[in-house]
Amino acid sequence: MNNKSDIVIHIDGLTKHYGAVKALSDLHLDVYRGEIFGYLGPNGAGKTTTIRVLLDLIRPTAGRAEIFGLDVNRDAVPLHERLGNLPGELALWNHMTGWDLVDYLGGLRGGVDMNYVRELVRRLDMDMTRKVKACSSGMKRKLGLIQALMHKPDLLVLDEPTNGLDPLVQQTFHQLMREVRDAGRTVFLSSHNLPEVETICDRVGILRAGRLQAVERISDLKQLRFRWMTLHIRGDVDLAAFERLEGVSDVTRLVNGTIRFRVAGELDPVIKAAGQYHIVDLAYEEPSLEEIFLEYYGETETTETKER
Ligand SMILES: Nc1ncnc2c1ncn2[C@@H]1O[C@H](COP(=O)(O)OP(=O)(O)OP(=O)(O)O)[C@@H](O)[C@H]1O
Ligand SMILES: [Mg+2]
Repeated sequence: MNNKSDIVIHIDGLTKHYGAVKALSDLHLDVYRGEIFGYLGPNGAGKTTTIRVLLDLIRPTAGRAEIFGLDVNRDAVPLHERLGNLPGELALWNHMTGWDLVDYLGGLRGGVDMNYVRELVRRLDMDMTRKVKACSSGMKRKLGLIQALMHKPDLLVLDEPTNGLDPLVQQTFHQLMREVRDAGRTVFLSSHNLPEVETICDRVGILRAGRLQAVERISDLKQLRFRWMTLHIRGDVDLAAFERLEGVSDVTRLVNGTIRFRVAGELDPVIKAAGQYHIVDLAYEEPSLEEIFLEYYGETETTETKER
């Protein structure tokens, strides 16, 4: 895989300015056939802007993008037959029911497999007889997914697809995406949610302030991973005993009896050291997206110290 002929999305020097706001700066990215690509970044990073350029909803200030070797602007019409996308809002179709929407969009696009639509409706547990305006935000999202998937497009471009979905429906969505990938089709999805991206994506691009910071395989990203451990200990605790441990760093005392530190690698030495104490409580947390970014930058100072 990853030959030139397998490139589905090719982004070359993409730049978008809104007046003084530099939403995207000189973005270069290739996404390959048969992968689930996660596009991760904090609010305002430029994820939606990228997606809007790919869907030809806005024009870039500079640079260009191709999908399946076709220019996203010049060849938008033939291209859109091969795309499925999830728009932020389905408000345009307020007066329609779910089934109306399937009929309407299906008529426009063609190639809709009604058996697959019924399967999606069942698996996503969607009430298709309800008008869009009477749907909850999660129901609208499900309807958005059904219309994005129903013609089995070669590429899905989804802007925060699981936002507002309950955990059960999120699981179903993850499974649907794996099935799309296993059928050799391609998914490009944006998200704020690192654990989700880790669960379903093959690669992730990390965007920040309009710049692509890193593009990594999830398996490589995981090797970089560390966690925060907080221990609530009864009695005195010797910080140095933890500072000495392999893989432990940034040991701090939060309040009396509570210490917090970073752990990378195996937990065994930490658990054994903690076993010397009377542990009242323990918390073990994922690093924040920000911390992962900083890890990529190789910066040692934390955001807190930066802001001060
Ligand atoms: N139409 C617009 N006019 C002016 N500025 C805009 C416009 N659309 C987006 N921006 C700005 O461009 C930047 C990128 O916004 P974008 O919506 O792409 O971010 P995002 O990564 O999708 O964020 P979120 O996670 O909040 O959805 C932000 O600074 C935003 O304020
Ligand atoms: Mg967005």
